[in-house]
Amino acid sequence: MAVSEWKEPNPVAPLRPEEFQRICELAKRTFGLDLRSGKEELVSARLRRLVQRGGLRSFDQYYRHVTEDRTGVALAAMIDALTTNHTSFLREAEHFTFLREHVVPRLKGRPTVNIWSAACSTGEELWTLAMILNEAMPAARLQLVGTDISNRALKSAAEARYSAERCAALPAPWLARYLAPEGRPATSYRVAPELRRQASFRRLNLTESYDWPHLFPVIFCRNVMIYFDGPVQELVVRRLTEFLEPGGYLFVGHAESLTRIDHKLEYLQPAIYRKPAGKERWTRSS
Ligand SMILES: C[S@@+](CC[C@H](N)C(=O)[O-])C[C@H]1O[C@@H](n2cnc3c(N)ncnc32)[C@H](O)[C@@H]1O
Repeated sequence: MAVSEWKEPNPVAPLRPEEFQRICELAKRTFGLDLRSGKEELVSARLRRLVQRGGLRSFDQYYRHVTEDRTGVALAAMIDALTTNHTSFLREAEHFTFLREHVVPRLKGRPTVNIWSAACSTGEELWTLAMILNEAMPAARLQLVGTDISNRALKSAAEARYSAERCAALPAPWLARYLAPEGRPATSYRVAPELRRQASFRRLNLTESYDWPHLFPVIFCRNVMIYFDGPVQELVVRRLTEFLEPGGYLFVGHAESLTRIDHKLEYLQPAIYRKPAGKERWTRSS
């Protein structure tokens, strides 16, 4: 068959401006995603696959399919398609150096240390934190919680199994101590059970209200705020601040300066903030 004769098996009508608009509103309303004009091509390219997979012919049909699906599965697939789960071990390594040098000394001596990796994706950030903290404070009772909006990402975070390629960035002593090789030669590694017992994962949408039974001395919330516009970022940072202990640290992505939004955190160094200790009373808003 000549290339010119090839036909798309299930042709999807091009994305119309009003369809784009409705999808933007849905993404904004459900998970805070700020899709401005200019993103039509991205939306069309990323969602077309889902339209086809659902046996649908247009983005209009797809929109109805997502909004009428009470199970939330279709919406979750849309969120996964429109955001990226890109992450890696030791990503933005200066944060971990800061943590080891400036934060760990303040945490030492506590009976329990609670750390939150918000928007943890497939878990590399949380497991990096687990390795650093186990190495620096072996006697501490560590409780790490990872949250994300994507169930698919959370499932692989909890599975804690990574290809040898993904683990190549890890220092050899960590590989030996905290990960178990699988296959000979190792094609993948699984995070050791001692670390897995210190971690839990749950689905949490940062743009909705949520609750925790305690405050955190450290929250990592990196490379997710890039998806949100100013007002949503402000709301997300306000809620994160509520769940930070006075004197606690918030780490955001290096591309996510908080300079343009209103917040009550002290700036320490790029992408690292601290909740002022003591002076102000911190109340939770509902
Ligand atoms: C690029 S990854 C960041 C992973 C990790 N924090 C890092 O910096 O490497 C962004 C993650 O944000 C999640 N996400 C997007 N919108 C969200 C929301 N409204 N609430 C919680 N997580 C969200 C995505 O599912 C994705 O896993």
